[in-house]
Amino acid sequence: MKILVTGGSGQVGFELQRQLCLLGTVMAPSRQELDLADAAAVDRWLDSHQPELIVNAAAYTAVDGAEEEPALARRLNAELPAQLAAYSAARGQWLVHYSSDYVYPGSGETPWQEQDDTGPLNVYGQTKLEGDEAVLASGCAHLIFRTSWVYSARGNNFMKTMLRLGRERDVLKVVSDQIGAPTPARLIAQVTALALSDGIARQSRAPTLPAGIYHLAPAGETSWHGFACEIFRQVRERGEPLAISPEGVATISSAEYPVPAARPLNSRLALTRLEQALGLRLPDWQEQLSLTLAEVLAS
Ligand SMILES: NC(=O)c1ccc[n+]([C@@H]2O[C@H](COP(=O)([O-])OP(=O)(O)OC[C@H]3O[C@@H](n4cnc5c(N)ncnc54)[C@H](OP(=O)(O)O)[C@@H]3O)[C@@H](O)[C@H]2O)c1
Repeated sequence: MKILVTGGSGQVGFELQRQLCLLGTVMAPSRQELDLADAAAVDRWLDSHQPELIVNAAAYTAVDGAEEEPALARRLNAELPAQLAAYSAARGQWLVHYSSDYVYPGSGETPWQEQDDTGPLNVYGQTKLEGDEAVLASGCAHLIFRTSWVYSARGNNFMKTMLRLGRERDVLKVVSDQIGAPTPARLIAQVTALALSDGIARQSRAPTLPAGIYHLAPAGETSWHGFACEIFRQVRERGEPLAISPEGVATISSAEYPVPAARPLNSRLALTRLEQALGLRLPDWQEQLSLTLAEVLAS
């Protein structure tokens, strides 16, 4: 089976390549080989390579940058999924796509359910929502995994920024009123492979779970401040040197830390639909962090 993974150099795309190579021949063209912003080039690539399953991990993920470059964000986050969904629908193939907690309005304190009303607060969230809607409207068989606060040993992410700052500084202020679950890219790829493997082995190519939108994140919740404190606690526990002390990590509110794009305060995602569909229990975010830290600190 020929599997196209877009965004193969990204956090999720890289981990997908590690997992999906067991299920088929993974094709993951680099940006130099295929500029996904170029719709005609994407059509040509699909015509010539004829993937049988598309897993779309490419996106415009610079949340603040999207406010300045809405057309490019919309091309990557909305038009590209629409294009890949049209290709998949025309061939009766499945499309796996990734979306975001940022499609929700961030109000309240209860976890979002997949069927809740959306209401993005920024251009990134709006374009991600348009991508979800395009996939749904295409009629293609789809899995849309909405995830949150992605990090990994690769790429630029909050965990790696904290590791660097924690070695350099003895005082840090970290936002404490945005609540969600930090999600390792590895977990996203593992769940994707689990969802796909049975159907591919049975040659039906249909995933184990019904088409639809699923939240995908670890269990539990924290703030960015709580995430930072846990990173430093685990690093200290491993005997690694840090400049920052537990008392040095101060809290700051979102209002006190202005950025171009507004962020949702409530990014909690209800996980029951995915857990029931796959018959699994999503692990706690703290134990997941420990696995990624082990990878980063060993390198
Ligand atoms: N990061 C988060 O916190 C977060 C949170 C919730 C949901 N998500 C969603 O999860 C999915 C995966 O995110 P991620 O964190 O793995 O993203 P990422 O690390 O930023 O990777 C994005 C990928 O898209 C590629 N890409 C972007 N523009 C391209 C273009 N014009 N041509 C070719 N490739 C292009 C990048 O290639 P280059 O390496 O060449 O730039 C990279 O491989 C996305 O759908 C994202 O919206 C992410």
